[in-house]
Amino acid sequence: MKILLLGKGGQVGWELQRSLAPLGELVAVDFDSTDLCGDLSKPEELAATVRRVAPTVIVNAAAHTAVDKAESEPEFARTLNATAVGVLAREAQALGAWMVHYSTDYVFNGSGSAPWSEDSPTGPLSVYGRTKLEGEQLLQQHCARHLIFRTSWVYAARGQNFAKTMLRLAAERDRLTVVDDQFGAPTGAELLADVTALALRRVLSPGGDPLAGLYHLVAGGETSWHGYARFVIDFAEQRGLALKAVGEAVQAVPSSAFKVAAPRPGNSRLNTQKLRDTFGLMLPHWQAGVGRMLTETLERSA
Ligand SMILES: NC(=O)c1ccc[n+]([C@@H]2O[C@H](COP(=O)([O-])OP(=O)(O)OC[C@H]3O[C@@H](n4cnc5c(N)ncnc54)[C@H](OP(=O)(O)O)[C@@H]3O)[C@@H](O)[C@H]2O)c1
Repeated sequence: MKILLLGKGGQVGWELQRSLAPLGELVAVDFDSTDLCGDLSKPEELAATVRRVAPTVIVNAAAHTAVDKAESEPEFARTLNATAVGVLAREAQALGAWMVHYSTDYVFNGSGSAPWSEDSPTGPLSVYGRTKLEGEQLLQQHCARHLIFRTSWVYAARGQNFAKTMLRLAAERDRLTVVDDQFGAPTGAELLADVTALALRRVLSPGGDPLAGLYHLVAGGETSWHGYARFVIDFAEQRGLALKAVGEAVQAVPSSAFKVAAPRPGNSRLNTQKLRDTFGLMLPHWQAGVGRMLTETLERSA
């Protein structure tokens, strides 16, 4: 079996390089790969890559993920998040291949407080959300064997992330302000990659075709960005990290306190029942994954 992975250097792509490796021969590319084109902004060359590799599975972890920047370059965001997905979907269909793709809680308008299901009405508030939704729809239309995982608040141990930024700011400043009116579940790239590999094993087994579809995939539990920041700072403080802004010095503020180009949904809670039931999986609480990532980060910097 051959897997073509796009976006190998991103948060999720990096973890997929690990989790997909035991499933088969992995051909992993990025936007600047030289021998094979992995650039989503060049749909025709991308199609040629798929034809050359002739994979059993395409896993697309690449995207235009700069949410605020997308507001000022909507056509470019659309090319990466929608047009390229449609091209990959058509190529996958022509080969009889599976295509795995990731989408976002930003396809919803963020109203109410109930977790969104896969069949809840969408209503993106931003260019990023709209283009990601269009990508989902193109994949559903053009490739029968698809898995779309909508996720939220992705972090990874590698590179920068929200938790590391909070620790840096809490060490530098006496007081921090963090948004407390957006709710969701911080989800580790590791978890996304592991569940992708497990789901792929199932759908590639005999009788797997009916499992194609759209699934919500986030860690268990929920929090606000403020709750997330407090957890990170309390965790590090308890392990002896010297911090200035702790406890009540980490203050909750509304989203309106920060000026951003793209509005964020307030309610990003995703109902994961369908994924858990279909694939017989458990999704651990977000604090387990964040705690693990923090332990690794703190050990490395000690
Ligand atoms: N991050 C989140 O909080 C979040 C939340 C919900 C859903 N998602 C979805 O989850 C998936 C993975 O996201 P992630 O967090 O792993 O994002 P990421 O770390 O930003 O990774 C995206 C990858 O795409 C690459 N890329 C950018 N432009 C490209 C192009 N023209 N052609 C090919 N690759 C290009 C990026 O390269 P550079 O880094 O060099 O630009 C990066 O390696 C995406 O579909 C995203 O929409 C993410």
